[in-house]
Amino acid sequence: MSTRSRLATVVATAVALLVLSAAAGLAFIYSGLYNVAASSKDNPVIAWMLHRTYEASLHRHGGKDLPPADLMSLENVRAGARMYDSTCALCHGAPDRPLSAVGQGIEPAAPQLLAASRRNNPPLMFWVIKHGVNMTAMPSFGKTQSDATIWQLAAFLYNGRGITKDRYDTLKSGAN
Ligand code: HEC
Repeated sequence: MSTRSRLATVVATAVALLVLSAAAGLAFIYSGLYNVAASSKDNPVIAWMLHRTYEASLHRHGGKDLPPADLMSLENVRAGARMYDSTCALCHGAPDRPLSAVGQGIEPAAPQLLAASRRNNPPLMFWVIKHGVNMTAMPSFGKTQSDATIWQLAAFLYNGRGITKDRYDTLKSGAN
């Protein structure tokens, strides 16, 4: 066989394989075989793919915004605590309170942002809160909230790691 016709065979095989895998992909999508129900855990392979994609995307896109100089002021932490309690706790939980029906129903579940083991790096948290996470229940708050409000949330998340119920209640009610 000449080099030329060998090359033609290789190209034809590659094209046939591409068409076949596209057809198989479409057949899978339209078959309905994949179960999208949120009532059971995500398929571990899909969950791993989504989570790794999220982490890599966060580290590539996030962390570039500069926090305000008074980021960790008590005023900012308090404002963040109030907003967290009214808007985030339903999914992310609050100390000694059962998780809401929404929080229990979403899949993947939202991480417990106030756990003592969290890092809650403020510029990274700022990016997630502002832009949200595609294909999960995490909303983009940049659509409705100012950057200042989002930095206050990031300040509270950093300050509130491992927070007790008493301190949480004090902060959100505006006392010291
Ligand atoms: C409707 C449910 C829901 C609400 C309300 C919600 N979140 Fe989330 N949030 C999620 C989910 C689900 C994830 C996990 C996304 C994933 O799996 O990548 C998440 C992820 C995050 C993360 C990233 C955590 C990490 O480990 O990287 C931050 C930060 C965050 N949310 C902050 C907030 C803040 C602050 C609010 C309130 C202003 C809020 N969220 C409101 C569902 C919610």
